[in-house]
Amino acid sequence: MTKKSFGIIGKPLSHSISPELHNFWFKKYNISADYSLLEIEQNEIEEIIKKIRNKELHGINVTVPYKQVVIPFLDLILDDAKETLSVNTISLNKDGKIVGNNTDVYGLEQGFLKRLDEKNLEQNKILILGAGGVTPSIIYALAKKGIKQITISNRTIEKAEDIKKRFPFIKIIKWENIETEVNSMNIIVNATSLGLKNSLDFTQEFKFIKNNLVYYDIIYNPRETTMIKKFKKKGIKTYNGLEMFIYQGQKSFSLWNKIKPELDEELIQTITAKIK
Ligand code: ATR
Repeated sequence: MTKKSFGIIGKPLSHSISPELHNFWFKKYNISADYSLLEIEQNEIEEIIKKIRNKELHGINVTVPYKQVVIPFLDLILDDAKETLSVNTISLNKDGKIVGNNTDVYGLEQGFLKRLDEKNLEQNKILILGAGGVTPSIIYALAKKGIKQITISNRTIEKAEDIKKRFPFIKIIKWENIETEVNSMNIIVNATSLGLKNSLDFTQEFKFIKNNLVYYDIIYNPRETTMIKKFKKKGIKTYNGLEMFIYQGQKSFSLWNKIKPELDEELIQTITAKIK
């Protein structure tokens, strides 16, 4: 059997450890396949999709900033991808159609949402920072759990307004006001790229926070962003995006290979060794 090829498209990709995750599982399950980083420009998306159609590529993940812009190139989008208009997993189905799925919602459900106190879940007041590719998945996963008190804020307010068209129950606050608004929130989610390895960081101080605040960073590389370090020092409960990352990868892997791969200790060690 010829070796199959998988990969992830996005830009930048230097922080991505998706190859380590999928190549670990390919080895573990004796699948002859390789997963690589495919850093591309937006005008190269069409060409990549063609490679899936002609089976040069057997599946791709999609990350920032292409989760939405990739949709017009697909034949159909399913389930959570339809609800969020955000695609992170692409494959060819048995009818020869290019299909887009979203496994981020599953990743959030299995990761972060499992960590939240089930009691009075819908009472939570959540502030999501950022209105990029992953924000619709966060809103959708929270709303499925009955959490509707969701506020979002984004440097470019128009992008937050675009998301509100799809999820009219959310509130928007101005980016300039996040520091004063955080004191009424009990969960903050960072869905911006601020804090990512080799990237800019928050300049805000976030002094006025509740001491029972929960801080969740979608970022997993570095394992502890400056925000996580800062909140941890104050005794705030913090989580990074590693669990979500692993679970979204698990679902992508199952969609492509029809095997639900195990999350074992060796995998966690292999992955964490790759991040600081
Ligand atoms: P995209 O927005 O292209 O989908 P993304 O990586 O999914 O890309 O999103 C990046 C997020 O980080 C966006 O919310 C972005 O805000 P803008 O929409 O205003 O660009 C946010 N972000 C990136 N750099 C930022 C910065 N220096 N200050 C504030 N927010 C920033």
